[in-house]
Amino acid sequence: MAIPADLLNKMTLEEKIGQLTMASANQAVTGPVAPSDFSNSVREGRVGSLLNLWGREETQRAQRLAVEGSRLGIPLFVGADVIHGFETIHPIPLAEAAAFEPALWEETARDATAESAAAGVHLTFSPMIDIARDPRWGRIAEGAGEDPVVGSAFAAAKVRGFQGKGLAGMGTTAKHFVVYGAAAAGREYAETDVSQRTVAEIYLPPFRAAVEAGTTAIMPAFSTLAGIPMTAHRQLLVGVLREQWGFDGVVISDYNAITELMKHGVAADLADAAMLALRAGVDIDMMGFAYERGLPEALKRGTVTMAEIDAAVMRVLVLKDRLGLFDDPYRNGWTPLPSLAERRATARKAGARSLVLAQNRGDLLPLSPGIKRLAVIGPLADARAEMIGSWSAAGKGDDAVSPLTGLRAALPGVEITHVEGTGIASGEADFATAVAAARAADCVILCVGEAALMSGEAASRTSLDLPGRQGELVEAVSATGKPIIALLFCGRPVTIPSLVEKADALLICWFPGSEAGHAIADVLTGKVNPGGHLPVTWPRDLGQVPITYDARPTGRPKNPAEKYTSKYIDSPNSPQFAFGHGLSYSSFSVSDPRIDAGRTITVEADVTNESDREGTTTLFLFSHDPVASVSRPLLELKQFSSITLGPREKRTVRFELQRSDFAFPDEAMQMAVEPGEIEIHVGLSAARAQLRSGTFKLV
Ligand code: GLC
Repeated sequence: MAIPADLLNKMTLEEKIGQLTMASANQAVTGPVAPSDFSNSVREGRVGSLLNLWGREETQRAQRLAVEGSRLGIPLFVGADVIHGFETIHPIPLAEAAAFEPALWEETARDATAESAAAGVHLTFSPMIDIARDPRWGRIAEGAGEDPVVGSAFAAAKVRGFQGKGLAGMGTTAKHFVVYGAAAAGREYAETDVSQRTVAEIYLPPFRAAVEAGTTAIMPAFSTLAGIPMTAHRQLLVGVLREQWGFDGVVISDYNAITELMKHGVAADLADAAMLALRAGVDIDMMGFAYERGLPEALKRGTVTMAEIDAAVMRVLVLKDRLGLFDDPYRNGWTPLPSLAERRATARKAGARSLVLAQNRGDLLPLSPGIKRLAVIGPLADARAEMIGSWSAAGKGDDAVSPLTGLRAALPGVEITHVEGTGIASGEADFATAVAAARAADCVILCVGEAALMSGEAASRTSLDLPGRQGELVEAVSATGKPIIALLFCGRPVTIPSLVEKADALLICWFPGSEAGHAIADVLTGKVNPGGHLPVTWPRDLGQVPITYDARPTGRPKNPAEKYTSKYIDSPNSPQFAFGHGLSYSSFSVSDPRIDAGRTITVEADVTNESDREGTTTLFLFSHDPVASVSRPLLELKQFSSITLGPREKRTVRFELQRSDFAFPDEAMQMAVEPGEIEIHVGLSAARAQLRSGTFKLV
């Protein structure tokens, strides 16, 4: 049926503004701004979309209010935060990024869409693609880490996975546009202030990738960039997003963000706030009612025009049409739903692929068959709700598999004792029982880290240390001298110098999702050979933050023999673990790159599995421009490739680069390609010592 002809002309101003208003259906979530009951607003055409609502019955009832109850019968769309799974929860995005596997990122998004669609959700406020380089910021957990190339691949894969072909799946909202991850001092919602060059090179690329992949919506960030709130940032939201990139989808404000323009100090009243947001191209006011309460006055003042309102309304109607809601508002049988067993299997696979084996002294892992007594110790050993992380939609902790449950299922013949030892953040502790259990065991599995909600939104930390008295637990257990396998649960890089020193093996588990325990057991027993790599640089100490692999050179590079060089007097410059770090039960070697600099620049390198067991690793291709008009980063990731090699298998990995891949914003912020020598570095992480290098002449 498509959009009924002449619909716009039939709409009253109130009905037009209704299409620009999104209300929350879950008062528990929304707090004071929630309307008494969204039903009246929908029936009266004053709300055109809902969030925080799911369930077939509930969403169909809401849709009936719009389609059969309102004057013009314009269908609603229902949005939800489906970030890493809907009911079956996948690893948090920062964990899934560690797989460096776009096909997996797409697969989990497809499963999440199938579950969401079955619950009547039409659009997800996802993917969250904010580049994050400060682990104090809790939302580093929700994105793909520090690198724009990884972030761009993640963005495109998630848009493809959620939306499916021809929007057969659900709409996506790439968020939070832009630079939100650079919040001052890592403090949530704080101002951001980075150079135009950094905005262009680091923070914008994932959003451009999402637009090119066809994202249906964009959500501006709560934050300001150099004093301008993103919700009112006309130059980026209109100038770049719509005019330069040709984005023709819908811009949905973040929660109450238009009204908050007054708190930002750029709007004197709601009419001002509404005008600023509308003129910046924000189409939908999420749960702020600023458009409902401010646009009529702004029209009267002449600060907005009816044409501007109509343009926004049309973009919303087109979105609803693209979602098929005019043709079939109830979207029955919308998308096929794989069996629960299949969806759990995907979650288990993704969980295992996201784990990063950070160290494995003496090849303690995989667990030796000779181990007959295990002590599973720590506050996260039998945790379930923590395993699904933040932003877990309709996921339930009770449905998650704890590490202890996973280990018991995988090791029926092993005597496993479990002691919490201490809480995640609590002061109580029973180190004596933990020590006794360790002493009686052949090996200790120490499960430590953060609680799920110590990261995510409104969860910045001033310390990256293990919370509570977990550090003491590590000391007490390691004093027994027993072999220790540490399982680290976190939504961010945490500073763990003592754990690194005391644990023989360290598996970074992040928050692995509903199948956590089985995924972890698959890796610990060797059923799965770990292949995850860090999508973020891991600091030794908070004092190093921000620390990334792509720092620009300094005029005084560190030289131990020289005092006046770039260094700390109390710490190495190097991180605890480099960007891309990740071990395997196999070992791999990488050849020098072979470069052919024709019209297309091809780089080939041979990766060999030097072990007798199949394994997965990721080959990274970095470049460096040693002399340019603007100082270029010491390493710039250009491409990556996750590969699985059989025993002793050697494979040539081929990367193809175009001249335009070496463009960067020059002094005048114009994208330029400057001829000259370019260094190429390939390796299994950004750690300089293991990179293999070559050069070519860029013409
Ligand atoms: C939140 C988040 C945003 C989310 C929205 C709706 O405050 O910033 O990511 O999509 O509100 O829940």
